[in-house]
Amino acid sequence: MNEKKQSGTGELRSIIRTRELVKVYKIGKIEIPALKGINLDISDGEFISIMGPSGSGKSTLMNIIGCLDIPTSGEYFLDSVNIGKLNDNELAAIRNKKIGFVFQTFNLLSRSNVFGNVELPLIYTSERVKDRRKRVLEAIEDVGLTTWIRHRPNELSGGQKQRVAIARALVNNPSIILADEPTGNLDSRTGEEIMAIFQRLNRDGKTIILVTHEMEIARHTHRVIYLRDGIIPGEEIINEQISAGEVLRRMPKLEDKLLSY
Ligand SMILES: Nc1ncnc2c1ncn2[C@@H]1O[C@H](COP(=O)(O)OP(=O)(O)O)[C@@H](O)[C@H]1O
Ligand SMILES: [Mg+2]
Repeated sequence: MNEKKQSGTGELRSIIRTRELVKVYKIGKIEIPALKGINLDISDGEFISIMGPSGSGKSTLMNIIGCLDIPTSGEYFLDSVNIGKLNDNELAAIRNKKIGFVFQTFNLLSRSNVFGNVELPLIYTSERVKDRRKRVLEAIEDVGLTTWIRHRPNELSGGQKQRVAIARALVNNPSIILADEPTGNLDSRTGEEIMAIFQRLNRDGKTIILVTHEMEIARHTHRVIYLRDGIIPGEEIINEQISAGEVLRRMPKLEDKLLSY
């Protein structure tokens, strides 16, 4: 882990901390308890995976961590800020500044090209057009899509679409990336390429929380948190993480051209 992330006392700095987090959805008179008391501590610079069966509460937890939703009860501290005490505007501001999202289904705008999709989180900022443009170009270059910048999503492969989504998540330079099954719709080589990008971003200091169904994917991260029926029954430290770069070097190389069809 990144040494510069240690605080003066030698302790790792906590970036996400939850205490007895509960989420109950209400549909009419029916109550659906999705989270039943989650206690999480994630340090700045960690790469965490959350694993659990469908319906166990993974997306609910990610939505709360990402300030897209609020818990029914319990506390959530993001960078020591008590999120439960914020109003909607403050919540949105903190979300835009600190968090980047990546989803299984990419969530790209089909009518916009790569540039327009990556620019999206910036269009309401007061930043000068020139500075904004520079940041968009940098984020696109960072995921290796510069030559595809004028193409629309339907002209891209699944892996390229996910790279656009990662560039969009990076464009605000957030300290935390939340990825909900980002490799779920991808073949294994392409999934590995996406994991290589996440591992590089983590080495560069980003805190990453990744939801996955697959143990093989979870083994690329530092720590696996298990989720079942809205509780955390346990967790596992991964001592020797799989290196996506290594795996890719051992795999036969497919033409990028083929991947785009
Ligand atoms: N918006 C919602 N309204 C009502 N129930 C929901 C909603 N979102 C999720 N749930 C329920 O909460 C539980 C956890 O769902 P979810 O967090 O999506 O799990 P996972 O991502 O692990 O599949 C499930 O029982 C699901 O049906
Ligand atoms: Mg889910």
